[in-house]
Order: sequence, then structure tokens, then C-alpha cells
Amino acid sequence: MEKAFQTLFAMSIFKQIEDLKNKAEEQIQKIQTQTELDQLHSSILGKKGELTSILKGLKDLSDQERREAGSAANETRKEMDLLFGNAKKQIESLEIQQRISKEKYDALKPIETAQGHLHPVTAVQYQVEDIFSSMGFRVMDGPEVETDDNNFGKLNFSEDHPARDMQDTFWTEDGNLLRTHTSSVQVRAMEKLSPPFRIIAPGRVFRYEETDASHENTFYQVEGMLIDRVVSVSNLIYIMKTFLSAFFERDVKVRLRPGYFPFVEPGFELDIHCLLCSGKGCPVCKQSGWLELLPCGLVHPNVIRAGGMDPSEWQGFAFGMGLMRLVMMKYSIEDIRHFLSGNLRFLKQF
Ligand code: PHE
Repeated sequence: MEKAFQTLFAMSIFKQIEDLKNKAEEQIQKIQTQTELDQLHSSILGKKGELTSILKGLKDLSDQERREAGSAANETRKEMDLLFGNAKKQIESLEIQQRISKEKYDALKPIETAQGHLHPVTAVQYQVEDIFSSMGFRVMDGPEVETDDNNFGKLNFSEDHPARDMQDTFWTEDGNLLRTHTSSVQVRAMEKLSPPFRIIAPGRVFRYEETDASHENTFYQVEGMLIDRVVSVSNLIYIMKTFLSAFFERDVKVRLRPGYFPFVEPGFELDIHCLLCSGKGCPVCKQSGWLELLPCGLVHPNVIRAGGMDPSEWQGFAFGMGLMRLVMMKYSIEDIRHFLSGNLRFLKQF
């Protein structure tokens, strides 16, 4: 290329670079978003951008001019990088500002927190307590670790009584036990209260046995005991019927079958008319029309005596309900193991 022409050409390259810089400055001003900025950046400084195509002309220049134009181009690139960098920061803070102005803080909006609620067994326990309280029963409590005497001895289980084998027991090293039934609270009630009295005692009991859909090694019972001068089986039936009708919110029919427990005489198994088919017969009651619900009976004279009372003066009845059984019937739950599983999907249904 001619020298003079080369010079002219070099000047035009400088001018093009200068123009490009001005154009970039001008356009950057107008840009509002990150994407537009990126597009502009690659159209000017990218591999196929305008600066690259201008610099293709450098090969036609003299060495010195090429060096000068080259360093001018580098200088420009640096300046433009700075321009783009600043623009990027500005757009970012603009976008943040826009987002903040759209977001509203509502001081009255309730904060959503996970709310707990009563376990179904506890909720039903409270219902049972309410119903019995309305009939003059007081709610008593007893310890889960008991003496052999309170759990068995004073309840008329003799040392070698075969009934002791009916309940497999967790023993502690010091010869005590985890109570196998809430009947131990009968003993405590007789020692603490003076007759006549009526108590119920809800609580946790333990049996050393295999678990299945209807057996747990840890479960809940509600014990009941009424002591008065004259107490008959019809008093027992009346209280049970009144309780069950209030609990299931319908008229509940009951029947008694003989049942053996050393601390009651006579002892019974109380059945109720099947709640599902009202006695007509269905799969739940195995076509019998009846469901076995709770054991009960008149307090054995030996138990009255062990409780410090004279059996010729005082009589009573007692009953023991499976609290989890009641919950299962009320809500049609098929497996007792759900209760202590800690499964939130189960618990959240209540
Ligand atoms: N304690 C007995 C049991 O757990 C139930 C029961 C209580 C029976 C009161 C009669 C009277 O099986």
C-alpha cells in the first residue's frame, strides 16, 4: 500500500475507533436491562463485534502505525470495559430498587407458623374426663413405675395366682415394675380418699408382649372406681351406658358377659351394640352385632379390705377402658401402632 494512503487509512481507523467509543457511550446511557447491556457488549467488544472488524484493517498499516492504532484500540477497549462495568452496576441497583418498590410489607398479615395440636389420644382423654367429671368422678393420677403390691398384691392377685401370668410384666432391677394396668390407681385412691368416692384414672400402661394391629407394649387405659354403701351391677351398667352414649353421641346398647379378674366379683366383659351396623351384623363385629369394649365388675371384698375399708360397710364397682381402643372406634383407625409411631401424616389428620 502507498505510504500516503496508508496514513490516510490509519487515520480512518483511529476515527472509527473513536466513533465506536462515542457510539457505545451514547447507547449505554439508554439501556435499562441486563440483557440489553449484554447484547450491546457483544456487538461492540465481542469476537464478531465491531471493534474486531475495525482491527482487521490493521494488517494493511505500516509497523509503526499498526503499533499506534493497536495500542489506541487496547486503550479504547479498557475504557469501554470500564463503561460497561459501571453500567452493569447501575442496572443492578436499578433492578433491586424496582423490586423493592413493588414488594410491600404488610404488618397485619399473620406470620405463618407450624401449629401443633393435641394428640388424638390426649384429646379423647380430655373428653372422657369431661364426661365423667359431669357425673361426679374426680380425675386421679398414679405413677407409671409401681410396686408389685399396688399392681398385683392389693388387687387380690396371690403370690402364685395364675392371673399374674395373664399380664407379662416389665420389671425394674429393684423389684418394682412398669404398671400393667391403671388398676394400681384403685389401690392409691382407696388409701388416699375416704369413702364414698368416685374416681377415674387415665394413664399409660406397659406390657411385655409382641405388637400387632391391636396390641401395643405401651398403651393407655382409663380406670374407674366408685365406692359407696350400696352399689349394684345396675349402677355399673347405668354409668357405663350414660358415658358411652355421651362419648359416641348416640344411644348405645350394652350387654354383660362373665369375665374373670381377681379384683372384681362378679367380673364382666361389657360389649356394645356394633356402632357400624347397629346390631344387624357386619364385618367389623364379625356378624355378631356386638363389640367387646371394656372389662368391669363389682369390687372384690378382699380389695375393699386391702384398701382399709370394711366390706360389710362399703361396696363398689370398677372398670378399665382401653383409651386407644376408644379413639380407634371413634375415628375408624385400623392399627393401634399408628398412635406412637410419631408419623406426622397420621397425626395431622386430627
Ligand atoms: N385392669 C384390667 C385389665 O387391664 C381391666 C379391669 C379394670 C377389669 C377394672 C375389671 C375392673 O385388663
